[in-house]
Amino acid sequence: MKYSRIIGTGSYLPGKVVHNTDLEKMMDTSDQWIRERTGIERRHYAAAGETTVDMGEAAARRAIEAAGLAPSDIDLIVFATATPDLVFPNCGTLLQARLGCVGAPAFSVEAACSGFIYALSIADKFVRMGDARRALVVGAETLTRITDFADRTTAILFADGAGAVVLAPSDEAGILSTHLHSDGSYKDLLYCTGGVSKGYPPDSGNRAVIRMAGRETFKVAVTMLGNSVDEVLAKNHLDKSAIDWLVPHQANIRIIQAVAKKLDLPMERVIVTVQEQGNTSAASVPLALDTGVRDGRIRRGELLLLEAFGGGFTWGAALVRF
Ligand code: ACO
Repeated sequence: MKYSRIIGTGSYLPGKVVHNTDLEKMMDTSDQWIRERTGIERRHYAAAGETTVDMGEAAARRAIEAAGLAPSDIDLIVFATATPDLVFPNCGTLLQARLGCVGAPAFSVEAACSGFIYALSIADKFVRMGDARRALVVGAETLTRITDFADRTTAILFADGAGAVVLAPSDEAGILSTHLHSDGSYKDLLYCTGGVSKGYPPDSGNRAVIRMAGRETFKVAVTMLGNSVDEVLAKNHLDKSAIDWLVPHQANIRIIQAVAKKLDLPMERVIVTVQEQGNTSAASVPLALDTGVRDGRIRRGELLLLEAFGGGFTWGAALVRF
């Protein structure tokens, strides 16, 4: 056994759909501005009381079913989120109890929008080392709980959802390489204002909310994701023409287009969900992957480049033979 391989994908979007025109009624913005600057047309919001683990569970059950397994078969859960149900137990452990995979190690990873790539990288290592045989990797977020709806520069971007994959050992190529990075010196460009240890500032209404310097974040994201593409290709001794599908984090259509251009990939070879899902942080890459798999675009044996960039900053990429 040399590789870990994705043997099932799943996703979940909550039922409430919020269009740009709905946001026009809540803040000083316009459908045209949002579409032109971000590519977003609508997004999904979790219902009151619907949590990150609720959505993660729905996505996980679909991925497990697609893999032809039972929930009790799972022997590792790595759960990426920046919006956990509780401080502890972590979301992975809460999910473990619901799935009934008794005794399986389960933990959460917090790396903002790059969380799923981080979680995938960790689970890949468990499987390749022989420490897990049926690893569940989840990315799920209730970002609307940390969205400041008085801040139009961020409120139009963020949304809720979940995605998941199951990894298993394989002699055939699967996850070929993962590449993780961070630079905390950029913290002030994209962060959440509060937390358990630091407290919750009164000027954010005594809750934690997202703050972002959008223009500056945009520039760093395009640069770092471009570097990640070069890194993936160099490490795997590949020409960019080898990539069949780009499965990017869905923050902004213009960032996605910039990475596609760097790869010389036509947009028809890029899985884009940002128009209907907005930015779901750690959920966006597995949501996009599941979308492409279930609608039949992504086929077995094709070469996928997954990438993400998020708060911290953190960023990363994974090259996957599907
Ligand atoms: N509606 C209407 N006008 C707006 C809105 C809005 N919702 N928001 C801002 N504006 C105005 C601004 O006030 C500004 O007006 P001014 O020129 O009079 O000052 C103008 O629009 C342009 O604002 P910019 O911020 O320069 O707009 P930009 O083209 O950069 O788009 C955006 C903003 C969409 C946020 C973009 O910068 C972006 O996508 N940044 C990167 C986001 C990202 O990748 N984040 C990382 C992942 S997220 C995570 O980790 C949680």
